[in-house]
Amino acid sequence: MTKRREITGYHEVRAAARDYENYSSNLQGDRDVRDYHQLPLEVDPPRHQLIRRAIQPLFLPKTLEPKIPDFIAMTKKLIAEVNQKLDAGETVEIGNDFALPYVVGCLTVIYNRPQDYDEWLSWGPDVWTAETQGKDEEARVAHRDRNFEGETSRSGVKLQTYLDRVFDEAIANPKDDLWGFISKLEFDGVPITRVEMQGAANVMLAGGRDTVVKLITGMIWHLINSETDRAFLTENPDARNAAIDELLRFLTPLSKMERVPGEYVSIPDKDRDTSKYVLLSFVSANYDKTIWENPEAIDLHRKKQPHMAFGFGPHTCMGMGITEAETRTVLNELLENWPNWKFAEEPDIAWQEEADYKYIDRFRALVISR
Ligand code: HEM
Repeated sequence: MTKRREITGYHEVRAAARDYENYSSNLQGDRDVRDYHQLPLEVDPPRHQLIRRAIQPLFLPKTLEPKIPDFIAMTKKLIAEVNQKLDAGETVEIGNDFALPYVVGCLTVIYNRPQDYDEWLSWGPDVWTAETQGKDEEARVAHRDRNFEGETSRSGVKLQTYLDRVFDEAIANPKDDLWGFISKLEFDGVPITRVEMQGAANVMLAGGRDTVVKLITGMIWHLINSETDRAFLTENPDARNAAIDELLRFLTPLSKMERVPGEYVSIPDKDRDTSKYVLLSFVSANYDKTIWENPEAIDLHRKKQPHMAFGFGPHTCMGMGITEAETRTVLNELLENWPNWKFAEEPDIAWQEEADYKYIDRFRALVISR
């Protein structure tokens, strides 16, 4: 695969993220596993705003706040389960055994689909590798890059089968849950189509899954690594939100996104040469040395400066509030009663080397013990 042009640097990425005419989001991603656009992610303004406005109620603080007691209960329960295993002399892998069940649990609460917990958990961290989950670790690691276009063992079958079932049910008998909400959407008075339902569902299920798992796993990795920062955050609850921002900058869970250069937008998706697409590098903005002193270090005492982990411009992440609430809940619980977690072995981390910095691509395994 030819290496595609990247837009890098804090100011350059911000400018391009706003400039949707020259750097359009009107493209269909994950071309190996789906054949429809994700909504509102893969649409440009003005239609983008219509869709974004229609789904906004799901993300409002007043929708989220009543769910937080459930997040707290889930955190307490999962920490207790981890501690129980550690007390029995077992080890625990934080990504799969703590962060993933927590994030999936939070999504079932937010979307009012508690009955889907086991099914969503069985998909693993990434819905596209659900078919190969647990069987083909190498393939899962190799294809985490959303822009990968070579041979892949990814599959859209699990998700498609699930979406066919839940939307059949929702259209026949809409309930007070995510699928009922999506099936009744209208954009400018025109009812949402079945394909658009799938596009919206995709972002809802995929957007806040591996990203938040990486953030929470990385946060726990850092709390174990740095006794100093742990003590500082325990004594200074007011510093916790800024600490989450610094972790978001450092981890940049969604590192790069594709854009179509303006001159190709009028060509239909299927006829485009995707090697001409460019990558908007949010991670380069978050590691720009002209903006951040020593960007490769986690520094909880940086002066306030907006990071770009949630993107910028019209497509800025809609799940910011959800992410922050989920992560803050875990941080508060862990600091309130630090469970003495230690690394059972050297953390297995996949680093990504760039021209003048490196960052964590993913945590392969973070195994802890007492
Ligand atoms: C650590 C957690 C997360 C990170 C780092 C993250 C990152 C991002 C980024 C960078 C974008 C913009 C992509 C672009 O410009 O092409 C985005 C968009 C989006 N995210 Fe997130 N996200 C996170 C969590 C979530 C969660 C929890 C949800 C929902 C449950 C969510 C839902 C969305 C949606 C709906 C969009 C599309 C917005 C639009 O196109 O207008 N995200 N996210």
